[in-house]
Formats: sequence, structure tokens, C-alpha cells
Amino acid sequence: MNKPILDHIGIAVDDLDSAIELYREKLGFDVEAIEDIPGFGVKVAFLPMGEGSIELVQPVTGDSAMARFLEKRGPGFHHLCFRVEDIRAELVRLEAAGVQLVDREPREGAHGTLVAFLHPKSTGGVLIELCEKT
Ligand code: CO
Repeated sequence: MNKPILDHIGIAVDDLDSAIELYREKLGFDVEAIEDIPGFGVKVAFLPMGEGSIELVQPVTGDSAMARFLEKRGPGFHHLCFRVEDIRAELVRLEAAGVQLVDREPREGAHGTLVAFLHPKSTGGVLIELCEKT
């Protein structure tokens, strides 16, 4: 297994435009990309930070996991994303190691990446996303 690399930190937001304004105007971030991710029912903005980025995530459909998260917990920290070389191999390895997976098969994430989530029940309450650049 390679050393983990932090790809991004995911933040749940109610309103992407006002979150972007906060990060851009007050916190000094650039906005690299704004993208719809239909498979997850969300739109996201990526704000570069060092080697990685902040991902602001707003639900666009009421039945998305992100909409349910916001209803229950409100806006704020949502997930950490680690970049891996071979996401399918990592999922097999982690499942064999007893980690509960949300996604056994990777799904299409932002800018053509493959992504999969690990269940926070088996990762100390932290939602962890894996991504593979394709
Ligand atoms: Co993410």
C-alpha cells in the first residue's frame, strides 16, 4: 500500500454561492472548478490548497445522501478524501481487513475520478472517501 495522500477535505454547504464567497472573498481561496456530479445529486466547487483542495458540496436533489446529511447534522465538515493508485485493489484490501464499505464498486466522481466511500462506523466516525485519478 502507498502512503496516503490527502486529496481534499469535503465540506457540506446549504448554498454553494455563499460558501464560495466566504472562501474566496474572506479566506483568500481561488475557485478552480465548479461541477455537477449527477450520480451523487450534488454540485461541488474545488478550491486548491497546497497539494490538495477544499471541496464544497451542495445537494441539488432532496433524496441525495448529502441532503439527508445536511438535514440531520447541518453544514460543516463532511469527509476526508485520500488519493490512491488503484481504487479497486484498495477496496478489496480494506474489506478483507474488516473495514465496512459504502461503495464496493467505485463510482464516477468529480473531474473524471473514480471514488468510493468507507463507512464511518468502521473508521472512527470519520467519513473517508478514496479517489483514483483516471
Ligand atoms: Co469528496
